[in-house]
Amino acid sequence: MKENPIILKTPREIDILREANQIIAGILDKLAQTVEPGITTGELDKIASSLIKASGGKPAFKGYRMSNRKPYPACICSSVNEEVVHGIPGSRVLKEGDIVGVDVGVVYKGFVGDAARTYAVGAISDEARQLLKITEESLYQAIEQAVPGARLQQISAAVQTHVESHGYSVVRDFVGHGVGRNMHEPPQIPNYTGVGWNPRLQVGMTLAIEPMVNEGSWRVKMLADEWTAVTADGKLSAHFEHSIAITANGPDILSRI
Ligand code: MF3
Ligand code: CO
Repeated sequence: MKENPIILKTPREIDILREANQIIAGILDKLAQTVEPGITTGELDKIASSLIKASGGKPAFKGYRMSNRKPYPACICSSVNEEVVHGIPGSRVLKEGDIVGVDVGVVYKGFVGDAARTYAVGAISDEARQLLKITEESLYQAIEQAVPGARLQQISAAVQTHVESHGYSVVRDFVGHGVGRNMHEPPQIPNYTGVGWNPRLQVGMTLAIEPMVNEGSWRVKMLADEWTAVTADGKLSAHFEHSIAITANGPDILSRI
Protein backbone atom coordinates (compact mmCIF):
# COMPACT_ATOMS: atom_id res chain seq x y z
CA MET A 1 0.00 0.00 0.00
CA LYS A 2 1.35 3.43 -0.97
CA GLU A 3 0.88 5.96 1.81
CA ASN A 4 0.98 9.74 1.77
CA PRO A 5 3.94 11.05 3.71
CA ILE A 6 3.56 12.15 7.30
CA ILE A 7 4.10 15.90 7.50
CA LEU A 8 6.77 16.68 10.10
CA LYS A 9 6.45 19.97 11.97
CA THR A 10 9.16 22.40 13.02
CA PRO A 11 9.41 23.52 16.67
CA ARG A 12 7.82 26.82 15.62
CA GLU A 13 4.87 25.00 14.04
CA ILE A 14 4.50 22.83 17.13
CA ASP A 15 4.33 26.01 19.22
CA ILE A 16 1.37 27.18 17.13
CA LEU A 17 -0.30 23.78 17.43
CA ARG A 18 0.16 24.10 21.18
CA GLU A 19 -1.54 27.50 21.15
CA ALA A 20 -4.48 26.04 19.21
CA ASN A 21 -4.74 23.12 21.61
CA GLN A 22 -4.44 25.32 24.68
CA ILE A 23 -7.53 27.20 23.51
CA ILE A 24 -9.29 23.83 23.46
CA ALA A 25 -7.93 22.80 26.85
CA GLY A 26 -9.36 26.00 28.32
CA ILE A 27 -12.74 25.35 26.71
CA LEU A 28 -12.82 21.74 27.91
CA ASP A 29 -12.01 22.89 31.44
CA LYS A 30 -14.77 25.49 31.30
CA LEU A 31 -17.24 22.89 30.05
CA ALA A 32 -16.18 20.50 32.82
CA GLN A 33 -17.38 23.12 35.31
CA THR A 34 -20.55 23.80 33.32
CA VAL A 35 -21.83 20.29 32.64
CA GLU A 36 -24.63 19.52 35.10
CA PRO A 37 -28.10 18.03 35.04
CA GLY A 38 -30.49 20.36 33.20
CA ILE A 39 -28.09 21.91 30.69
CA THR A 40 -28.58 21.17 26.99
CA THR A 41 -25.85 20.10 24.59
CA GLY A 42 -26.75 23.14 22.50
CA GLU A 43 -25.86 25.39 25.43
CA LEU A 44 -22.46 23.70 25.67
CA ASP A 45 -21.94 24.39 21.97
CA LYS A 46 -22.84 28.06 22.48
CA ILE A 47 -20.29 28.42 25.28
CA ALA A 48 -17.59 26.77 23.16
CA SER A 49 -18.50 28.92 20.18
CA SER A 50 -18.12 32.18 22.10
CA LEU A 51 -14.85 31.06 23.70
CA ILE A 52 -13.45 30.10 20.28
CA LYS A 53 -14.45 33.50 18.92
CA ALA A 54 -12.86 35.30 21.88
CA SER A 55 -9.63 33.36 21.32
CA GLY A 56 -9.20 34.67 17.79
CA GLY A 57 -9.59 31.16 16.40
CA LYS A 58 -12.25 29.54 14.24
CA PRO A 59 -14.24 26.36 14.85
CA ALA A 60 -12.62 23.51 12.94
CA PHE A 61 -15.67 21.24 12.86
CA LYS A 62 -18.32 23.67 11.61
CA GLY A 63 -18.84 23.09 7.90
CA TYR A 64 -16.46 20.12 7.89
CA ARG A 65 -17.37 17.47 5.34
CA MET A 66 -16.69 13.80 5.80
CA SER A 67 -17.17 11.68 2.66
CA ASN A 68 -20.41 12.86 1.06
CA ARG A 69 -22.33 13.62 4.20
CA LYS A 70 -23.88 16.98 4.91
CA PRO A 71 -21.46 19.52 6.44
CA TYR A 72 -21.09 19.26 10.23
CA PRO A 73 -23.34 21.97 11.73
CA ALA A 74 -21.73 22.86 15.10
CA CYS A 75 -18.53 23.82 16.95
CA ILE A 76 -18.44 20.78 19.22
CA CYS A 77 -19.48 17.17 19.07
CA SER A 78 -21.50 16.12 22.13
CA SER A 79 -22.07 12.39 22.39
CA VAL A 80 -24.35 11.20 25.21
CA ASN A 81 -24.31 7.68 26.73
CA GLU A 82 -24.59 5.19 23.82
CA GLU A 83 -23.51 7.87 21.35
CA VAL A 84 -19.91 7.12 20.38
CA VAL A 85 -18.74 10.24 18.52
CA HIS A 86 -20.04 13.10 16.35
CA GLY A 87 -23.23 13.71 18.33
CA ILE A 88 -24.75 16.98 17.12
CA PRO A 89 -25.50 19.46 19.92
CA GLY A 90 -29.08 20.66 20.24
CA SER A 91 -32.08 20.61 22.54
CA ARG A 92 -31.16 17.40 24.37
CA VAL A 93 -31.18 18.01 28.12
CA LEU A 94 -28.43 16.26 30.10
CA LYS A 95 -29.67 14.39 33.13
CA GLU A 96 -28.08 13.04 36.29
CA GLY A 97 -26.20 9.82 35.55
CA ASP A 98 -25.49 10.59 31.87
CA ILE A 99 -22.00 10.68 30.42
CA VAL A 100 -21.24 13.14 27.63
CA GLY A 101 -18.24 13.12 25.32
CA VAL A 102 -17.29 16.59 24.14
CA ASP A 103 -14.90 17.00 21.20
CA VAL A 104 -13.62 20.46 20.24
CA GLY A 105 -11.64 21.57 17.19
CA VAL A 106 -10.11 25.00 16.60
CA VAL A 107 -8.19 26.51 13.70
CA TYR A 108 -5.66 29.03 14.98
CA LYS A 109 -2.95 30.73 12.91
CA GLY A 110 -3.48 28.12 10.22
CA PHE A 111 -3.17 25.07 12.46
CA VAL A 112 -5.82 22.75 13.87
CA GLY A 113 -6.19 21.87 17.54
CA ASP A 114 -8.28 18.79 18.37
CA ALA A 115 -9.09 17.26 21.78
CA ALA A 116 -11.96 15.58 23.61
CA ARG A 117 -13.03 14.45 27.07
CA THR A 118 -16.00 12.55 28.43
CA TYR A 119 -17.72 14.09 31.45
CA ALA A 120 -19.94 12.67 34.14
CA VAL A 121 -23.26 14.50 34.52
CA GLY A 122 -23.82 14.65 38.27
CA ALA A 123 -23.46 11.30 40.02
CA ILE A 124 -22.95 8.38 37.64
CA SER A 125 -23.02 4.60 38.09
CA ASP A 126 -19.88 2.69 39.10
CA GLU A 127 -20.02 1.01 35.69
CA ALA A 128 -19.97 4.32 33.84
CA ARG A 129 -17.19 5.66 36.08
CA GLN A 130 -15.05 2.60 35.38
CA LEU A 131 -15.57 2.99 31.61
CA LEU A 132 -14.39 6.63 31.78
CA LYS A 133 -11.39 5.69 33.92
CA ILE A 134 -10.20 2.88 31.66
CA THR A 135 -10.72 4.92 28.49
CA GLU A 136 -8.74 7.87 29.84
CA GLU A 137 -6.00 5.58 31.16
CA SER A 138 -5.76 3.93 27.73
CA LEU A 139 -5.15 7.36 26.18
CA TYR A 140 -2.26 8.09 28.56
CA GLN A 141 -0.78 4.63 28.09
CA ALA A 142 -0.95 5.17 24.32
CA ILE A 143 0.74 8.57 24.63
CA GLU A 144 3.62 6.97 26.58
CA GLN A 145 4.37 4.88 23.48
CA ALA A 146 4.79 7.97 21.29
CA VAL A 147 8.58 8.16 21.36
CA PRO A 148 11.00 8.51 18.44
CA GLY A 149 11.93 5.13 16.97
CA ALA A 150 8.83 3.30 18.21
CA ARG A 151 6.25 1.97 15.75
CA LEU A 152 2.86 3.56 15.24
CA GLN A 153 1.00 0.40 16.16
CA GLN A 154 2.57 0.44 19.64
CA ILE A 155 0.15 3.32 20.26
CA SER A 156 -2.74 1.21 18.96
CA ALA A 157 -1.64 -1.82 20.98
CA ALA A 158 -1.46 0.17 24.22
CA VAL A 159 -5.07 1.27 23.86
CA GLN A 160 -6.34 -2.13 22.80
CA THR A 161 -4.52 -4.07 25.52
CA HIS A 162 -5.71 -1.85 28.34
CA VAL A 163 -9.28 -1.65 27.08
CA GLU A 164 -9.75 -5.33 26.28
CA SER A 165 -8.10 -6.50 29.50
CA HIS A 166 -10.92 -4.71 31.31
CA GLY A 167 -13.60 -6.40 29.23
CA TYR A 168 -14.38 -3.43 26.98
CA SER A 169 -14.01 -3.12 23.21
CA VAL A 170 -12.38 -0.55 20.94
CA VAL A 171 -14.39 1.06 18.18
CA ARG A 172 -13.08 0.18 14.71
CA ASP A 173 -15.00 2.55 12.48
CA PHE A 174 -13.19 5.68 13.71
CA VAL A 175 -9.49 6.27 14.28
CA GLY A 176 -7.01 8.84 15.53
CA HIS A 177 -4.95 10.77 13.00
CA GLY A 178 -2.05 13.03 12.19
CA VAL A 179 -2.95 16.69 12.72
CA GLY A 180 -1.49 19.97 11.50
CA ARG A 181 -2.65 22.49 8.93
CA ASN A 182 -5.39 19.95 8.23
CA MET A 183 -7.50 18.25 10.87
CA HIS A 184 -6.91 14.85 9.32
CA GLU A 185 -3.40 14.15 8.07
CA PRO A 186 -1.62 10.82 7.67
CA PRO A 187 -1.18 8.52 9.48
CA GLN A 188 -4.47 7.04 10.61
CA ILE A 189 -4.14 5.78 14.18
CA PRO A 190 -6.50 2.86 14.83
CA ASN A 191 -7.08 1.90 18.45
CA TYR A 192 -6.46 -1.74 17.53
CA THR A 193 -3.50 -3.45 15.85
CA GLY A 194 -2.91 -5.56 12.80
CA VAL A 195 -4.26 -3.25 10.13
CA GLY A 196 -2.65 -0.76 7.81
CA TRP A 197 0.58 1.07 7.98
CA ASN A 198 3.09 0.75 10.81
CA PRO A 199 5.71 3.47 10.29
CA ARG A 200 8.39 4.40 12.78
CA LEU A 201 7.62 7.46 14.89
CA GLN A 202 9.88 10.47 14.40
CA VAL A 203 10.58 13.79 16.05
CA GLY A 204 8.22 16.40 14.57
CA MET A 205 5.21 14.14 14.10
CA THR A 206 2.01 15.59 15.56
CA LEU A 207 -0.77 13.15 16.32
CA ALA A 208 -4.34 13.22 17.62
CA ILE A 209 -4.74 10.04 19.66
CA GLU A 210 -8.35 9.27 20.47
CA PRO A 211 -9.54 6.01 22.01
CA MET A 212 -13.27 5.40 21.58
CA VAL A 213 -14.25 2.61 23.93
CA ASN A 214 -17.50 0.64 24.16
CA GLU A 215 -18.84 -1.09 27.23
CA GLY A 216 -20.19 -3.93 25.03
CA SER A 217 -19.62 -4.75 21.37
CA TRP A 218 -17.34 -2.58 19.21
CA ARG A 219 -20.04 -2.36 16.55
CA VAL A 220 -21.55 1.03 15.83
CA LYS A 221 -24.30 2.35 13.62
CA MET A 222 -25.07 5.78 12.29
CA LEU A 223 -28.22 7.74 13.06
CA ALA A 224 -30.41 9.33 10.37
CA ASP A 225 -28.78 12.73 11.05
CA GLU A 226 -25.80 11.34 9.03
CA TRP A 227 -23.32 12.13 11.81
CA THR A 228 -24.12 10.63 15.19
CA ALA A 229 -22.51 7.22 15.68
CA VAL A 230 -24.13 5.07 18.39
CA THR A 231 -23.26 1.67 19.81
CA ALA A 232 -25.13 -1.08 17.97
CA ASP A 233 -26.07 -2.73 21.29
CA GLY A 234 -27.16 0.50 23.02
CA LYS A 235 -24.49 0.20 25.74
CA LEU A 236 -22.29 3.08 26.86
CA SER A 237 -19.31 4.51 24.97
CA ALA A 238 -16.54 6.90 26.04
CA HIS A 239 -14.00 9.03 24.15
CA PHE A 240 -10.86 10.92 25.21
CA GLU A 241 -8.50 12.68 22.80
CA HIS A 242 -5.22 14.59 23.07
CA SER A 243 -3.10 16.17 20.37
CA ILE A 244 0.58 15.45 20.97
CA ALA A 245 3.96 16.18 19.41
CA ILE A 246 6.78 13.67 19.31
CA THR A 247 9.98 15.28 20.58
CA ALA A 248 13.48 13.99 21.30
CA ASN A 249 12.40 13.89 24.95
CA GLY A 250 9.27 11.87 24.19
CA PRO A 251 5.62 12.83 23.86
CA ASP A 252 4.60 16.43 24.48
CA ILE A 253 0.85 16.72 25.19
CA LEU A 254 -0.20 19.91 23.41
CA SER A 255 -3.81 19.87 24.66
CA ARG A 256 -2.98 19.31 28.34
CA ILE A 257 -3.90 22.27 30.52
N1 MF3 B 1 -11.96 14.58 16.77
C1 MF3 B 1 -12.83 14.24 15.68
C2 MF3 B 1 -12.00 13.77 14.53
O1 MF3 B 1 -10.83 13.89 14.63
C3 MF3 B 1 -13.76 15.33 15.39
C4 MF3 B 1 -14.26 15.51 14.00
S1 MF3 B 1 -15.84 16.14 14.03
C5 MF3 B 1 -16.17 16.72 12.52
O2 MF3 B 1 -12.42 13.21 13.56
F1 MF3 B 1 -17.34 17.12 12.52
F2 MF3 B 1 -15.41 17.70 12.23
F3 MF3 B 1 -15.96 15.75 11.61
CO1 CO C 1 -9.59 13.94 16.23
